[in-house]
Amino acid sequence: MSTATPLPKFDITAEEIDQLVALFYKRIRWHPMLGPIFARAIAEEDGPEWRAHEAKIAAFWRNAVGLDRAYDGNPMRVHVENPDVRPGMFSTWLDLFHITAAEVLSPEKAANMSALAERIGQGLRYGVTQRGQVRGAPPVLR
Ligand code: HEM
Repeated sequence: MSTATPLPKFDITAEEIDQLVALFYKRIRWHPMLGPIFARAIAEEDGPEWRAHEAKIAAFWRNAVGLDRAYDGNPMRVHVENPDVRPGMFSTWLDLFHITAAEVLSPEKAANMSALAERIGQGLRYGVTQRGQVRGAPPVLR
């Protein structure tokens, strides 16, 4: 049996998560397809509502990587209940996330965060395809 201390799930700091989240949502605000959806849900203009959103998302990621447990939300419900969020948008969201992670983080940390985002994104996308579906009915894929 090994007596070594288990490694933390991800070797990433809260500061690195803050940098990633700030740049990612800056790009989201400018994005032609995703920007308007977030503008409607959060705020048209950059400002305090966006800082609050980024703080919530940073807490979500700190929770996801095991840094702390401050996040208390339900991402599945948020996405399923927002009819603007379509299954076909997830690959665009994830591509933007991957590009940004690769810019902000070391290659290893970027790969870990990107893989985690893909896993979570798959779950959310599936939830969105099932929204409003009668059990057994075909999923809505676009
Ligand atoms: C099609 C792609 C996506 C779109 C259009 C989208 C859109 C949104 C919007 C508009 C909100 C704000 C809801 C509100 O505050 O009223 C939100 C919240 C959030 N999103 Fe996404 N999202 C997408 C994918 C993802 C993915 C892949 C993740 C995680 C890997 C994610 C994580 C979150 C989290 C954690 C929240 C906060 C939930 C809460 O209120 O606790 N989103 N999203």
